[in-house]
Amino acid sequence: MAIRDGHSSDAIQEAARVLRAGGLAAFPTETVYGLGADASSDEAVAGIFAAKGRPSNHPLIVHVAAGAKGTEALSRFAQPLPPFAQKLVQAFWPGPLTLIVTRQPGVAAAAAGGQDTIGLRCPAHPVAQALLVACAEQGVPGIAGPSANRFGRVSPTTAEHVRQEFGDDLLVIDGGPCDVGIESTIVDCSRGQPVLLRPGAITRMQIEAACGETLRDRNELAVPDPRASGTLEAHYAPAAKLRLMDAKALQTGLDVLGPNAAHIAVWSRSPLKSRSQRVLLRRMPDDAAAVAQQLFAILRAFDDEGAKLIWVETPPAGPEWEGVHDRLRRAAAA
Ligand code: TXA
Ligand code: MG
Repeated sequence: MAIRDGHSSDAIQEAARVLRAGGLAAFPTETVYGLGADASSDEAVAGIFAAKGRPSNHPLIVHVAAGAKGTEALSRFAQPLPPFAQKLVQAFWPGPLTLIVTRQPGVAAAAAGGQDTIGLRCPAHPVAQALLVACAEQGVPGIAGPSANRFGRVSPTTAEHVRQEFGDDLLVIDGGPCDVGIESTIVDCSRGQPVLLRPGAITRMQIEAACGETLRDRNELAVPDPRASGTLEAHYAPAAKLRLMDAKALQTGLDVLGPNAAHIAVWSRSPLKSRSQRVLLRRMPDDAAAVAQQLFAILRAFDDEGAKLIWVETPPAGPEWEGVHDRLRRAAAA
């Protein structure tokens, strides 16, 4: 009942009305589902912090429509972008890239967690775009939208995941399973040079190629980091304890536990064997994009199946794996 098909224009209009009235509605993007509220209303945004249980000084990402409405929204929320940030907009919007830019004073203060910067993203998902356009037409130019999960938990990649987090009272617009599966790449463009705050599907090399500058790492800079919950060491955590190991260590662990192994779920690229029927063995795909797409859904499924331990084979090195490594490392740190 709370889940509505995002391909119906009635559902889009209903969600836009709810958002305009200051309520919350969850929506699909190509990365993960977002928990939306009118970014210009501090009161509406307070509803997000309350629902998520997230500290209200943690800034949110504001989603804007593509095209002319998006350009209007950019100048409403942000001060003029530096040239390298404009190049990133040109290259990757709409798409899974969030830019941190200098905020226009006096707008979206609560959404920005009170900082003088603001995170902006123009998602590519057609249902998200339909919703953002409908909102813009009703005078709501930006939708603040953190991932639609409770604070510290795994991000949702289906409408059903969102329902499991927040129950039936929340309106969830269903756009199917998310294609990318991990949250957007975040580049801070407010410090004169681009800084990678969160790796994602758009890689470091793609960003450098598009903007012609060297991408810095957050720890290279002397200035203190803005608060970013997606960058807390322990984040994106399943309920089960997650460990990363190589294939050899995984097989040794399974051999040692033998037929008595229980409540263990394994996600590995290599074929492994267990003498226990109570060990869940799942194969990890070979390519990074497919692993990212499945990652959060697999962690949730393992939790649902009662796993107490999740053992994951450490993925290969390489730039396209950076986002997956980041999420797995954080899940393991919880
Ligand atoms: O893919 C995504 O980005 C998803 C979808 C829904 O768009 N959203 C998402 O939002 O992941 P959230 O709130 O779960 O993560 C946003 C991250 C947080 O780590 C937040 O602190 C950081 O972006 N962030 C937002 N505004 C910021 C700012 N002004 N300065 C620094 N970090 C900021
Ligand atoms: Mg999140």
